Amino acid sequence: MVDAILGLQWGDEGKGKIVDYFARNYDIIARFQGGPNAGHTLYIGDRKVVLHQIPSGIFHEDKINLIGSGVVLDPVTLKKECDAVASFGVDYRKNLFISERTHLILPTHRALDKASEIAKGDDKIGSTLKGIGPAYMDKTGRNGLRVGDLLHKDFDEQYKKLRNKHEQLLGNFDFQEDISQWEEEFFTAIAFLRTLNIINGEYFINDQIQKGCKVLAEGAQGSMLDVDFGTFPFVTSSNTMSAGICSGLGIAPQKIKEIIGITKAYCTRVGSGPFPTELFDESGEFLRITGNEFGSTTGRPRRCGWIDLVALRFACMINGVTSIVMTKADILDELDTLKTCTSYETNGVNSDKVPFQMNGIDIKPMYESFKGWQTNISQIRNYAEMPDEMKNYINHINSYLGVPVKFISNGPGREQIVSI
Ligand code: GDP
Ligand code: IMO
Ligand code: MG
Repeated sequence: MVDAILGLQWGDEGKGKIVDYFARNYDIIARFQGGPNAGHTLYIGDRKVVLHQIPSGIFHEDKINLIGSGVVLDPVTLKKECDAVASFGVDYRKNLFISERTHLILPTHRALDKASEIAKGDDKIGSTLKGIGPAYMDKTGRNGLRVGDLLHKDFDEQYKKLRNKHEQLLGNFDFQEDISQWEEEFFTAIAFLRTLNIINGEYFINDQIQKGCKVLAEGAQGSMLDVDFGTFPFVTSSNTMSAGICSGLGIAPQKIKEIIGITKAYCTRVGSGPFPTELFDESGEFLRITGNEFGSTTGRPRRCGWIDLVALRFACMINGVTSIVMTKADILDELDTLKTCTSYETNGVNSDKVPFQMNGIDIKPMYESFKGWQTNISQIRNYAEMPDEMKNYINHINSYLGVPVKFISNGPGREQIVSI
């Protein structure tokens, strides 16, 4: 049986914290897509950890953490992260497994990402520059190298062939950086990666499911960044939605049971692209400062706005979300008025659907207003004690989405979560 935790917005919904919290109920925690563009923050006691490649169940020593085939893996990031988790006493050699079909991110993928973004100028995606797009392009272009290739004698030759291809491509861009240092780090990390548990992920996970083990699939990014259904072209390069679980882990759809969607109590986006409810006033600044909305991977300030129920309902639809966890509710504590976007107005026409294209058209978000709770909720552990204004806000969201909010996260700490 497989359940999933997925982001429903433009990423950074708090998936890391929530996966770490729910991991106690599962045997295997598996990442199925994305790569080091992800930054999943966890607190272990007072210590903050940001995971980019390793699943967020790694701090539970009795759980298996699997990097699935649908992920793109940068060995350099992985090595650094293994060192970081080891400093907490985690024995990653015992509980971290990597699928041999997982594609590798090469130094030249990062270079191509950077060169391509520079060439786009004002139209840039705002990529994290981790090489995600070029690595997935090599996968679908049938050129990429996979973790299993590392174990073959001709890996260095295959690597050189692909690097040469990339260098030819880089020649078309104005890209002069010396990446020899990146390459040195890469080969050190490759030697390290060879010593880890490289397995056939699809047989492994299906055997474990057959034996009755419970799997938690951990999404990266968010539904509105999905390559097919997000705000294209301002998206990432993988299927962040629930469909990606099957192709990213090699499991059948009927094995999937609960789809737990994560949304912030408001909305953020980092990078370029449409964001109908974005706030450019002091409310936006309030959310950014109070919510500490700066990217976990790149440190960039996140764009902030009110919760967008139109986009959220769309995300619930394409994912088949069965329940919702709302994070960062505590960030709204001081506000006297809260808003939710319940429709978009475009050229005088009102709609509650996400349009084909959001770029270059003037979408006016139509809001409903709610009285804020103006209470510090961060220490509350029981929903009955939550202020009535919050219950009102949650009831409205439940009825708009048709999917229940079942948990409210009210602080970054591991136990700051309230079940409804
Ligand atoms: P992810 O990419 O979805 O895992 O989210 P990030 O880790 O990039 O960003 C979420 C940020 O919000 C992190 O800094 C978390 O520590 C923090 N966070 C998560 N849940 C809560 C919450 O309920 N309240 C507060 N104040 N912070 C939270
Ligand atoms: P987590 O898992 C927020 C955004 C980038 C950019 C676009 C494409 O932490 O929620 P890419 O590097 O994939 O080519 O960038 O997607 N992006 C994210 N935004 N959270 C993430 O991951 C993201 N991963 C990518 O900012 O706009
Ligand atoms: Mg993040």
